[in-house]
Amino acid sequence: MSNTWPRHDMSFLGGKRQRRLRRTGWMRDLVRETVLTPHDFIWPLFVIEGENTRTQIRTMPGVERLSIDLIVEAARAAHAQGIPALALFPNTPDHLRNADATEAYNPDNLMCRALAAIKSAVPQIGLIADVALDEYSSDGQDGLVRDGEILNDETVAVMVRSALAQARAGADIIAPSDMMDGRVAAIRMALDAEGFEHVAIMAYSAKFASAYYGPFREAVGSGSRLKGDKRTYQLDFANSDEALREVEQDIAEGADMVMVKPGLPYLDLVQRVSDTFDVPVFAYQVSGEYTMLKLAGDAGAINGEAAMMESLWAFKRAGCSGVLTYFALEAARKLNG
Ligand code: PBG
Repeated sequence: MSNTWPRHDMSFLGGKRQRRLRRTGWMRDLVRETVLTPHDFIWPLFVIEGENTRTQIRTMPGVERLSIDLIVEAARAAHAQGIPALALFPNTPDHLRNADATEAYNPDNLMCRALAAIKSAVPQIGLIADVALDEYSSDGQDGLVRDGEILNDETVAVMVRSALAQARAGADIIAPSDMMDGRVAAIRMALDAEGFEHVAIMAYSAKFASAYYGPFREAVGSGSRLKGDKRTYQLDFANSDEALREVEQDIAEGADMVMVKPGLPYLDLVQRVSDTFDVPVFAYQVSGEYTMLKLAGDAGAINGEAAMMESLWAFKRAGCSGVLTYFALEAARKLNG
Protein backbone atom coordinates (compact mmCIF):
# COMPACT_ATOMS: atom_id res chain seq x y z
CA MET A 1 0.00 0.00 0.00
CA SER A 2 1.45 3.32 -1.09
CA ASN A 3 0.72 5.11 2.17
CA THR A 4 2.98 2.71 3.97
CA TRP A 5 6.06 3.61 1.90
CA PRO A 6 8.75 4.94 4.13
CA ARG A 7 9.68 8.62 3.84
CA HIS A 8 13.06 9.99 4.64
CA ASP A 9 13.69 13.24 6.35
CA MET A 10 14.12 15.62 3.37
CA SER A 11 15.00 18.69 5.36
CA PHE A 12 18.45 18.70 3.73
CA LEU A 13 16.71 20.05 0.62
CA GLY A 14 16.02 23.25 2.48
CA GLY A 15 12.73 23.52 0.62
CA LYS A 16 14.47 23.40 -2.78
CA ARG A 17 12.82 21.02 -5.20
CA GLN A 18 13.98 21.13 -8.82
CA ARG A 19 11.05 19.08 -10.07
CA ARG A 20 8.57 21.93 -9.42
CA LEU A 21 9.63 23.50 -12.70
CA ARG A 22 9.02 20.26 -14.59
CA ARG A 23 5.64 19.20 -13.17
CA THR A 24 3.37 20.39 -15.95
CA GLY A 25 3.52 21.11 -19.64
CA TRP A 26 2.73 24.78 -19.21
CA MET A 27 5.46 25.19 -16.61
CA ARG A 28 7.99 23.49 -18.89
CA ASP A 29 6.90 25.83 -21.68
CA LEU A 30 7.32 28.79 -19.35
CA VAL A 31 10.89 28.05 -18.25
CA ARG A 32 12.30 26.57 -21.49
CA GLU A 33 15.70 28.18 -22.11
CA THR A 34 16.03 27.84 -25.88
CA VAL A 35 13.72 27.77 -28.86
CA LEU A 36 13.93 25.87 -32.12
CA THR A 37 12.10 27.22 -35.15
CA PRO A 38 12.25 26.56 -38.91
CA HIS A 39 14.28 29.79 -39.13
CA ASP A 40 17.14 27.87 -37.50
CA PHE A 41 17.56 25.50 -40.43
CA ILE A 42 19.70 25.54 -43.54
CA TRP A 43 18.77 22.73 -45.93
CA PRO A 44 21.61 21.11 -47.91
CA LEU A 45 20.54 19.90 -51.36
CA PHE A 46 22.34 17.82 -54.00
CA VAL A 47 21.96 18.92 -57.61
CA ILE A 48 22.23 16.70 -60.71
CA GLU A 49 21.85 17.24 -64.42
CA GLY A 50 18.61 16.38 -66.17
CA GLU A 51 14.97 17.25 -65.98
CA ASN A 52 12.39 15.90 -63.58
CA THR A 53 15.15 13.57 -62.40
CA ARG A 54 15.77 12.29 -58.89
CA THR A 55 18.29 9.64 -57.88
CA GLN A 56 18.59 7.77 -54.61
CA ILE A 57 21.70 8.16 -52.53
CA ARG A 58 22.59 4.69 -51.31
CA THR A 59 24.22 5.97 -48.14
CA MET A 60 21.52 8.50 -47.20
CA PRO A 61 18.05 6.94 -47.01
CA GLY A 62 15.35 9.52 -47.69
CA VAL A 63 17.70 12.02 -49.37
CA GLU A 64 17.78 12.32 -53.16
CA ARG A 65 19.85 14.14 -55.74
CA LEU A 66 17.52 16.44 -57.68
CA SER A 67 17.62 18.03 -61.12
CA ILE A 68 17.38 21.82 -61.18
CA ASP A 69 13.61 21.94 -61.84
CA LEU A 70 13.02 19.73 -58.79
CA ILE A 71 15.46 21.76 -56.71
CA VAL A 72 13.31 24.79 -57.49
CA GLU A 73 10.28 22.88 -56.19
CA ALA A 74 12.23 21.95 -53.08
CA ALA A 75 13.13 25.63 -52.62
CA ARG A 76 9.45 26.57 -52.78
CA ALA A 77 8.57 23.90 -50.21
CA ALA A 78 11.38 25.07 -47.93
CA HIS A 79 10.34 28.71 -48.18
CA ALA A 80 6.72 27.80 -47.44
CA GLN A 81 7.88 26.18 -44.19
CA GLY A 82 9.95 29.18 -43.10
CA ILE A 83 13.39 27.74 -43.89
CA PRO A 84 15.56 30.79 -44.59
CA ALA A 85 18.32 29.32 -46.72
CA LEU A 86 19.53 26.41 -48.83
CA ALA A 87 23.08 25.07 -49.20
CA LEU A 88 23.74 23.65 -52.65
CA PHE A 89 26.14 20.86 -53.64
CA PRO A 90 26.56 19.72 -57.24
CA ASN A 91 27.15 16.17 -58.40
CA THR A 92 29.27 17.12 -61.40
CA PRO A 93 29.08 14.71 -64.36
CA ASP A 94 32.18 12.52 -64.57
CA HIS A 95 33.35 13.79 -67.97
CA LEU A 96 33.61 17.35 -66.59
CA ARG A 97 35.88 16.45 -63.69
CA ASN A 98 39.61 16.95 -64.17
CA ALA A 99 42.82 17.44 -62.21
CA ASP A 100 42.58 21.23 -62.44
CA ALA A 101 38.89 21.36 -61.39
CA THR A 102 38.23 23.84 -64.19
CA GLU A 103 34.48 23.12 -64.03
CA ALA A 104 34.49 24.88 -60.63
CA TYR A 105 34.57 28.27 -62.36
CA ASN A 106 32.57 27.49 -65.48
CA PRO A 107 29.84 30.17 -65.31
CA ASP A 108 27.46 27.65 -66.82
CA ASN A 109 28.21 24.80 -64.43
CA LEU A 110 25.49 22.88 -62.62
CA MET A 111 25.91 24.89 -59.44
CA CYS A 112 25.62 28.27 -61.19
CA ARG A 113 22.58 27.21 -63.19
CA ALA A 114 20.90 25.91 -60.04
CA LEU A 115 21.66 29.16 -58.20
CA ALA A 116 20.25 31.27 -61.02
CA ALA A 117 17.13 29.13 -61.40
CA ILE A 118 16.25 29.28 -57.70
CA LYS A 119 17.09 32.98 -57.46
CA SER A 120 14.63 33.84 -60.20
CA ALA A 121 11.86 31.43 -59.09
CA VAL A 122 12.10 31.82 -55.29
CA PRO A 123 13.96 35.11 -54.70
CA GLN A 124 12.95 35.20 -51.01
CA ILE A 125 15.13 32.25 -50.03
CA GLY A 126 18.84 32.61 -49.22
CA LEU A 127 21.35 30.71 -51.33
CA ILE A 128 24.54 29.35 -49.87
CA ALA A 129 27.14 28.14 -52.35
CA ASP A 130 29.70 25.61 -51.18
CA VAL A 131 33.17 26.35 -52.53
CA ALA A 132 35.66 23.49 -52.64
CA LEU A 133 37.27 21.59 -55.45
CA ASP A 134 36.26 18.04 -54.53
CA GLU A 135 32.93 18.49 -56.29
CA TYR A 136 34.75 19.22 -59.58
CA SER A 137 38.14 17.52 -59.42
CA SER A 138 39.09 14.05 -60.61
CA ASP A 139 40.98 13.46 -57.35
CA GLY A 140 38.19 13.87 -54.82
CA GLN A 141 40.39 16.19 -52.77
CA ASP A 142 39.29 19.70 -51.80
CA GLY A 143 42.44 21.12 -53.34
CA LEU A 144 44.64 20.70 -56.40
CA VAL A 145 47.03 17.77 -56.06
CA ARG A 146 50.65 17.69 -57.23
CA ASP A 147 52.90 14.72 -56.42
CA GLY A 148 50.54 13.71 -53.66
CA GLU A 149 50.61 17.17 -52.05
CA ILE A 150 47.50 19.31 -51.71
CA LEU A 151 48.53 22.72 -53.05
CA ASN A 152 47.32 25.65 -50.98
CA ASP A 153 47.77 28.91 -52.84
CA GLU A 154 47.00 27.46 -56.28
CA THR A 155 43.80 25.98 -54.84
CA VAL A 156 42.80 29.34 -53.37
CA ALA A 157 43.17 30.93 -56.80
CA VAL A 158 40.74 28.42 -58.32
CA MET A 159 38.34 28.84 -55.41
CA VAL A 160 38.28 32.60 -55.90
CA ARG A 161 37.25 32.13 -59.52
CA SER A 162 34.63 29.59 -58.44
CA ALA A 163 33.22 31.94 -55.78
CA LEU A 164 32.99 34.81 -58.27
CA ALA A 165 31.09 32.64 -60.74
CA GLN A 166 28.70 31.66 -57.94
CA ALA A 167 28.20 35.27 -56.84
CA ARG A 168 27.43 36.31 -60.42
CA ALA A 169 24.90 33.46 -60.62
CA GLY A 170 23.07 34.71 -57.54
CA ALA A 171 24.73 33.20 -54.45
CA ASP A 172 23.99 35.24 -51.31
CA ILE A 173 26.52 33.50 -49.11
CA ILE A 174 29.80 31.95 -50.17
CA ALA A 175 30.76 29.00 -47.99
CA PRO A 176 34.34 27.77 -48.43
CA SER A 177 34.48 24.21 -47.09
CA ASP A 178 38.07 23.39 -48.01
CA MET A 179 40.26 24.45 -45.04
CA MET A 180 43.02 25.97 -47.23
CA ASP A 181 44.91 28.84 -45.60
CA GLY A 182 43.95 32.35 -46.65
CA ARG A 183 40.89 31.49 -48.69
CA VAL A 184 38.50 33.70 -46.74
CA ALA A 185 40.56 36.86 -47.27
CA ALA A 186 41.17 36.03 -50.92
CA ILE A 187 37.46 35.48 -51.59
CA ARG A 188 36.47 38.59 -49.62
CA MET A 189 38.87 40.80 -51.59
CA ALA A 190 37.76 39.38 -54.92
CA LEU A 191 34.05 39.76 -54.09
CA ASP A 192 34.56 43.38 -53.03
CA ALA A 193 36.60 44.18 -56.12
CA GLU A 194 33.76 42.92 -58.33
CA GLY A 195 30.98 44.82 -56.57
CA PHE A 196 29.75 41.92 -54.44
CA GLU A 197 30.24 43.69 -51.10
CA HIS A 198 26.79 42.47 -50.07
CA VAL A 199 27.64 38.79 -50.52
CA ALA A 200 28.45 37.23 -47.14
CA ILE A 201 30.98 34.57 -46.25
CA MET A 202 30.11 31.62 -44.04
CA ALA A 203 33.42 29.93 -43.38
CA TYR A 204 33.71 26.26 -42.61
CA SER A 205 36.25 27.28 -39.98
CA ALA A 206 36.40 24.37 -37.56
CA LYS A 207 36.11 21.52 -40.01
CA PHE A 208 37.49 18.25 -38.78
CA ALA A 209 38.82 15.29 -40.78
CA SER A 210 35.87 13.01 -40.14
CA ALA A 211 34.51 9.60 -40.99
CA TYR A 212 31.04 11.13 -40.71
CA TYR A 213 31.37 12.66 -44.20
CA GLY A 214 31.33 9.26 -45.90
CA PRO A 215 27.69 9.32 -47.08
CA PHE A 216 28.09 12.86 -48.51
CA ARG A 217 31.02 11.76 -50.66
CA GLU A 218 28.77 9.13 -52.21
CA ALA A 219 26.13 11.82 -52.78
CA VAL A 220 28.43 14.18 -54.70
CA GLY A 221 30.38 11.37 -56.35
CA SER A 222 33.79 12.16 -54.87
CA GLY A 223 34.15 9.20 -52.51
CA SER A 224 35.28 6.59 -54.99
CA ARG A 225 37.91 8.97 -56.37
CA LEU A 226 39.43 9.94 -53.07
CA LYS A 227 42.75 8.33 -52.32
CA GLY A 228 44.00 8.65 -48.79
CA ASP A 229 42.39 11.19 -46.51
CA LYS A 230 42.08 14.94 -45.91
CA ARG A 231 44.19 15.18 -42.77
CA THR A 232 46.74 17.61 -44.20
CA TYR A 233 44.09 20.30 -44.26
CA GLN A 234 41.05 19.31 -42.18
CA LEU A 235 41.51 19.45 -38.41
CA ASP A 236 42.68 16.60 -36.19
CA PHE A 237 39.68 15.48 -34.14
CA ALA A 238 41.88 15.36 -31.04
CA ASN A 239 42.21 19.15 -31.07
CA SER A 240 40.15 22.01 -29.73
CA ASP A 241 42.51 25.01 -29.26
CA GLU A 242 43.63 24.65 -32.87
CA ALA A 243 40.01 24.90 -34.01
CA LEU A 244 39.68 28.16 -32.10
CA ARG A 245 42.75 29.53 -33.88
CA GLU A 246 41.16 28.66 -37.23
CA VAL A 247 37.97 30.47 -36.25
CA GLU A 248 39.90 33.51 -35.04
CA GLN A 249 41.84 33.71 -38.28
CA ASP A 250 38.76 33.31 -40.50
CA ILE A 251 37.01 36.13 -38.64
CA ALA A 252 40.10 38.31 -39.01
CA GLU A 253 40.12 37.53 -42.74
CA GLY A 254 36.52 38.67 -43.10
CA ALA A 255 34.20 35.75 -42.37
CA ASP A 256 30.73 37.01 -41.39
CA MET A 257 29.72 33.68 -39.91
CA VAL A 258 31.63 30.60 -38.90
CA MET A 259 30.81 26.92 -38.86
CA VAL A 260 31.72 23.90 -36.80
CA LYS A 261 31.59 20.57 -38.59
CA PRO A 262 30.63 17.77 -37.92
CA GLY A 263 27.89 18.78 -35.51
CA LEU A 264 26.69 16.64 -32.63
CA PRO A 265 30.05 15.02 -31.76
CA TYR A 266 31.64 18.50 -31.77
CA LEU A 267 29.18 20.52 -29.67
CA ASP A 268 32.02 21.27 -27.26
CA LEU A 269 33.53 23.33 -30.09
CA VAL A 270 30.24 25.05 -30.81
CA GLN A 271 30.05 26.10 -27.20
CA ARG A 272 33.66 27.30 -27.05
CA VAL A 273 33.34 29.22 -30.31
CA SER A 274 30.05 30.87 -29.35
CA ASP A 275 31.41 31.77 -25.89
CA THR A 276 34.61 33.22 -27.36
CA PHE A 277 33.62 35.05 -30.54
CA ASP A 278 31.02 37.60 -31.43
CA VAL A 279 29.83 36.27 -34.80
CA PRO A 280 26.96 33.89 -35.59
CA VAL A 281 28.01 30.27 -35.21
CA PHE A 282 26.54 27.48 -37.29
CA ALA A 283 27.03 23.75 -37.13
CA TYR A 284 26.65 21.15 -39.84
CA GLN A 285 24.79 18.01 -38.82
CA VAL A 286 26.64 16.05 -41.47
CA SER A 287 25.63 13.14 -43.64
CA GLY A 288 26.91 10.42 -41.29
CA GLU A 289 25.01 11.90 -38.37
CA TYR A 290 21.86 12.05 -40.47
CA THR A 291 22.22 8.47 -41.63
CA MET A 292 22.89 7.09 -38.16
CA LEU A 293 19.71 8.67 -36.81
CA LYS A 294 17.70 7.73 -39.88
CA LEU A 295 18.73 4.08 -39.93
CA ALA A 296 18.22 3.66 -36.21
CA GLY A 297 14.77 5.21 -36.51
CA ASP A 298 13.84 3.15 -39.56
CA ALA A 299 14.93 -0.01 -37.74
CA GLY A 300 12.64 0.84 -34.85
CA ALA A 301 15.57 0.94 -32.47
CA ILE A 302 14.85 4.55 -31.51
CA ASN A 303 11.97 6.93 -32.06
CA GLY A 304 13.47 8.59 -35.13
CA GLU A 305 11.35 11.72 -35.08
CA ALA A 306 11.91 12.37 -31.39
CA ALA A 307 15.65 11.78 -31.76
CA MET A 308 15.74 14.16 -34.74
CA MET A 309 14.12 16.98 -32.76
CA GLU A 310 16.29 16.32 -29.72
CA SER A 311 19.45 16.40 -31.82
CA LEU A 312 18.46 19.70 -33.47
CA TRP A 313 17.58 21.30 -30.17
CA ALA A 314 21.01 20.34 -28.83
CA PHE A 315 22.60 22.65 -31.41
CA LYS A 316 20.59 25.59 -30.12
CA ARG A 317 21.42 24.74 -26.51
CA ALA A 318 25.13 24.69 -27.38
CA GLY A 319 24.93 28.20 -28.83
CA CYS A 320 24.27 27.80 -32.55
CA SER A 321 22.53 30.50 -34.55
CA GLY A 322 21.43 27.78 -36.91
CA VAL A 323 22.18 24.31 -38.20
CA LEU A 324 22.73 22.79 -41.60
CA THR A 325 20.66 19.62 -41.56
CA TYR A 326 19.25 17.13 -44.01
CA PHE A 327 16.25 16.97 -41.67
CA ALA A 328 15.41 20.63 -42.34
CA LEU A 329 12.15 20.16 -44.23
CA GLU A 330 10.90 17.28 -42.08
CA ALA A 331 11.74 19.10 -38.85
CA ALA A 332 10.24 22.39 -40.09
CA ARG A 333 7.00 20.60 -40.96
CA LYS A 334 6.94 19.03 -37.53
CA LEU A 335 7.53 22.37 -35.81
CA ASN A 336 4.84 24.03 -37.92
CA GLY A 337 2.39 21.30 -36.93
C1 PBG B 1 33.43 19.16 -49.41
C2 PBG B 1 32.41 18.98 -48.36
C3 PBG B 1 32.23 17.85 -47.57
C4 PBG B 1 31.08 18.07 -46.83
C5 PBG B 1 30.61 19.34 -47.15
N1 PBG B 1 31.46 19.90 -48.09
C6 PBG B 1 32.96 16.56 -47.53
C7 PBG B 1 34.40 16.53 -47.22
O1 PBG B 1 34.98 17.51 -46.75
O2 PBG B 1 34.99 15.49 -47.48
C8 PBG B 1 30.46 17.07 -45.89
C9 PBG B 1 29.00 17.24 -45.63
C10 PBG B 1 28.33 16.03 -45.07
O3 PBG B 1 28.97 15.01 -44.74
O4 PBG B 1 27.11 16.08 -44.95
N2 PBG B 1 34.40 20.07 -49.24
